[in-house]
Amino acid sequence: MLGSPSPSRLAAVLAVTAGLVASVGATSPISVSGKSFALNGDNVSYRFHVDDDSSDLIGDHFGGPATEDGIFPPIIGPIQGWVDLIGRQRREFPDLGRGDFRTPAVHIKQSAGYTVSEFKYQSHNIVKGKPALHGLPSTFGDAGDVSTLVVHMYDNYSSVAADLTYSIFPKYDAVVRSVNITNRGKGNITIEKLASLSVDLPYEELDMLELKGDWAREGMRVRRKVDYGTQGFGSTTGYSSHLHNPFFSLITPTTTESQGEAWGFSLVYTGSFSVEVEKASQGLTRAALGVNPYQLSWPLGPGETFTTPEAVAVFSNTGVGGMSRKFHSLYRKHLIKSKFATQMHPVLLNSWEGLGFDYNDTTILHLAQESADLGVKLFVLDDGWFGVKYPRITDNAGLGDWVANPTRFPQGLPEFIDNVTKLKVANSSDHLQFGLWFEPEMVNPNSTLYHQHPDWVIHAGSYPRTLTRNQLVLNVALPEVQNFIIESLSNILGNASISYVKWDNNRGIHEAPYPGLDYAYMLGLYRVFETLSTRFPDVRWEGCASGGGRFDPGVLQYFPHIWTSDDTDAVERIRIQFGTSLVYPPSAMGAHVSAVPNGQTQRTTSITFRAHVAMMGGSFGFELNPAKMPDDDKAQIPDIIALAEKVNPIVVKGDMWRLSLPEESNWPAALFISEDGSQAVLFYFQIKANINNAWPVLRLQGLDAAAKYKIDGNQTFSGATLMNIGLQYQFNGDYDSKVVFLEKQR
Ligand code: DGJ
Repeated sequence: MLGSPSPSRLAAVLAVTAGLVASVGATSPISVSGKSFALNGDNVSYRFHVDDDSSDLIGDHFGGPATEDGIFPPIIGPIQGWVDLIGRQRREFPDLGRGDFRTPAVHIKQSAGYTVSEFKYQSHNIVKGKPALHGLPSTFGDAGDVSTLVVHMYDNYSSVAADLTYSIFPKYDAVVRSVNITNRGKGNITIEKLASLSVDLPYEELDMLELKGDWAREGMRVRRKVDYGTQGFGSTTGYSSHLHNPFFSLITPTTTESQGEAWGFSLVYTGSFSVEVEKASQGLTRAALGVNPYQLSWPLGPGETFTTPEAVAVFSNTGVGGMSRKFHSLYRKHLIKSKFATQMHPVLLNSWEGLGFDYNDTTILHLAQESADLGVKLFVLDDGWFGVKYPRITDNAGLGDWVANPTRFPQGLPEFIDNVTKLKVANSSDHLQFGLWFEPEMVNPNSTLYHQHPDWVIHAGSYPRTLTRNQLVLNVALPEVQNFIIESLSNILGNASISYVKWDNNRGIHEAPYPGLDYAYMLGLYRVFETLSTRFPDVRWEGCASGGGRFDPGVLQYFPHIWTSDDTDAVERIRIQFGTSLVYPPSAMGAHVSAVPNGQTQRTTSITFRAHVAMMGGSFGFELNPAKMPDDDKAQIPDIIALAEKVNPIVVKGDMWRLSLPEESNWPAALFISEDGSQAVLFYFQIKANINNAWPVLRLQGLDAAAKYKIDGNQTFSGATLMNIGLQYQFNGDYDSKVVFLEKQR
């Protein structure tokens, strides 16, 4: 009869009488009581237990600190209708095919063809610190930073094992999860879907925050209500992409930048991904993220293991801003491996928007000389320097042929670079540093490489190899392609004084020969990144993919900076950079001052406004030809560089407080506070001129209420006054800006 509960369901229905049973101490990062598990951060608890009847893992809580599992077992019933108990529980590792009709985290095709799974708890163990993921980027830390719990599950029918790995970084209220599947049977199985993290939240109203975009329009912040059914997004481009970022946040409808609960989810992966948020018929919300199942179908032979990328989940009860700051410091300190992650960035000038493909060694040396004379510390030569038989003088030739163009550089590249690095930087004892652009994963059909190895490109049999920007994608899943890239770059980096590499990637993947190519490509790419970044630790690596097409935690593991967008218009950039900062640290953002009218939007803004916007990025620089600048603007560059060098350490290492958002205000503002709290810098913008209105008062955040702060070396106010009354400035006309320094008084 429909709806009559079984004895065990009756227990669930009557659970309210059971009271608070499972009590787990909240003092250590991981505590286990019987089969109840708790991951405890400074301001987070993540709790789950093993169900006595089903041996399934049942989620109890992900949110603010709690010291018990709550009403235990949770009240579920009465169970009536088609959805049985399994479809109403908060499950940690949900499958499809046994009555849970919601989005599954795991979907495996067994050797016999079945797609039913029944994983049951077997055992668990606790590991000090956090083991690295084999072949994949992952957060890291020692035993004082992070602790790890591994829960071992097994499906007796298919002989498939699943290990769920949970790590807790208590200081950042961050729980990191990944999953391993091992085929312990005798036949081949196929992994059709395996989310890195799946979490069920209780019945409550939620909103969802995400970053959408396109080329030159990355990081657009979108907030929407989580409604019944599945809503989500992802990438099928082969890369994390401009279109959607592998990040989302669930927030309560009343959560703001500075108040309320926010759960943030971020995938440490550079390939195609998927985010699914489902509000199911009973009102619970399931959130899952991982590798895109369309690009998986991963065959697993007997004894083989598949590992998912890891997902980072952060909880904040101090609004969206609190969530972002936790991600920022976690990623700066426990994700980016480069020693440059928290070092001041040399002000650079990149040749792309200034010269494009139109240069030779004389004009480039002249641009470098001008850069040095203005006080620029690092000169980056962008696209167009390579190709012998197929010179890269437009974008239709040369990719893959990583040898300097002898017509452009008759003395050879190392000699040319020597001439650049001999240049003295004005007003400093430094010599100019040199950086070089590569796009190693790509090939033009017009190249020697393609003629030698047409089989190295990604292609599906005899289907046409579709070109984007006149180029094809090398199959980086192939070891010979990985080795080619490693050796081509090593030859150049090992033979010249190159302190910076910009690694570009300018198209998506088409015609994959099999669904799992995307994941296999990523394993190959990470091997290449790991080898080169380890071999050349003194090189600053900048990631780029037509701007921010791969702004993701996977790239950040190896590269401390990423070019945020090809849109260098300062007004657009405020939105793009504020959006990107939802999850990624400002230290990682490349932001450059370019010429006006802007190449993408045709908008003209002052050099001061452009510079102030770009200074909010850790990797600040210029992307223009000083010879074509108005004299007045050019004359300001040395002062701009001095200001950028003053703010850079605070931006790179400090905490960012988004005080007002470009989506909501004509006066967007952000405050950066140094790690020790002794200094802060405020960026404050007016977008449109404002006639006959009161000037807004900007209330600061994050200061020490009891301390006194000197504002721009003049007046002194307490933190309380600055946070409760605020500061007021008058702006002048469209696109005006202020940079204000605060110094904490002793
Ligand atoms: C796309 C990048 O985003 C640009 O900055 C520039 O490097 C071009 N590629 C060069 O082709």
